[in-house]
Amino acid sequence: ATAGLGSEIVSVVNKLQDVFTAVGSSASQIDLPQICVLGSQSSGKSSVLENIVGRDFLPRGTGIVTRRPLVLQLINRPVPSSPQPNGNAVYGDKHANENEWGEFLHLPGQKFYDFNKIREEIVRDTEAKTGRNAGISPLPINLRIYSPNVLTLTLVDLPGLTKVPVGDQPKDIEKQIRDMLLKFITKPACIILAVTAANTDLANSDGLKLAREVDPEGQRTIGVLTKVDLMDAGTDVVDILAGRIIPLRLGYVPVVNRGQRDIEANKPISAALEFEREYFENHPSYKSKAQYCGTPFLARKLNMILMHHIRATLPDIKARITQQLQKFNTELQSLGGALGDTSSSSVVLSVITDFCSEFRTTIDGNTNDLSLNE
Ligand code: GDP
Ligand code: NA
Ligand code: MG
Repeated sequence: ATAGLGSEIVSVVNKLQDVFTAVGSSASQIDLPQICVLGSQSSGKSSVLENIVGRDFLPRGTGIVTRRPLVLQLINRPVPSSPQPNGNAVYGDKHANENEWGEFLHLPGQKFYDFNKIREEIVRDTEAKTGRNAGISPLPINLRIYSPNVLTLTLVDLPGLTKVPVGDQPKDIEKQIRDMLLKFITKPACIILAVTAANTDLANSDGLKLAREVDPEGQRTIGVLTKVDLMDAGTDVVDILAGRIIPLRLGYVPVVNRGQRDIEANKPISAALEFEREYFENHPSYKSKAQYCGTPFLARKLNMILMHHIRATLPDIKARITQQLQKFNTELQSLGGALGDTSSSSVVLSVITDFCSEFRTTIDGNTNDLSLNE
């Protein structure tokens, strides 16, 4: 089982991309929203992002680890010759590595097949540009990951909000980080994962506060509650999930990521996801709602939002294709009209209409079971 962004949406996007290519549309890409993580330092942002992608490659840890924005472009690259077994099941298989690699913008042409080496390079380049002593920089690290199993999409890991300067940080560190984050999250096409550790007070959540400034209606903010496993015995996040504390239109998802000791012991993501599933299924407060908890549900929620986005762009895609057809017909007619038979173009039009409604069905099938407020 994979916690990542679903294979169904990957195939929908790939098919649409094929259509664009076939009709020679200038837009060869569906513009999907960027996903950014926002929250206090060490709230678990990098951990959440890594679990969504389903690969170990981000530096994580206590203290300020993420000191520059990491713009992570996932690029779907189908393997045409030998079809892969489904999804992430091939991870760990030696042969899977040939089709999955990372490339940094600052190291053009250098392919990283070992994801541990990707993490080392992120750390190395962070230190090269910001020094070792907790300095931060708005200069992003650009990393592309090519894989047959990912959705072509951009995710952004961001430094956390802090208040007190440490190490070589300037006095106005709080404002500097804020301004840096605002540059990313102000974009209307940014989905904000507002991360708050469940063992801290939600009312003090810096991530939620900043998200509200740029998205007051909560139309593109998902609350993510990390460290649920570290809450005091007898306390839980049920009231938050029910929207009784700070309601969010798109709701909250509680997750359990790997702890610092798991990171030091190199606990694999698969084991972490298994632990998370068992945690929610066996916890008295969550077991009746376990399907709405954890990383897989967060990934489904993101899928749903992306599917809605694609659905909303279908009429525009259809209009563009129709326009293209009309142009071809006019050209054909001016070339002698032998093929200028209007009935053939109406056949093509109905094919496109069928095509669009087929996608609607797929998309609705993926989103009907998820209520926005759950
Ligand atoms: P970031 O600074 O917000 O990117 O946070 P990181 O992902 O680097 O995590 C900070 C620390 O919190 C690390 O030591 C993680 O192991 C730990 N951590 C993050 N999420 C959880 C969680 O859900 N449970 C536990 N026990 N530890 C977590
Ligand atoms: Na951290
Ligand atoms: Mg981080």
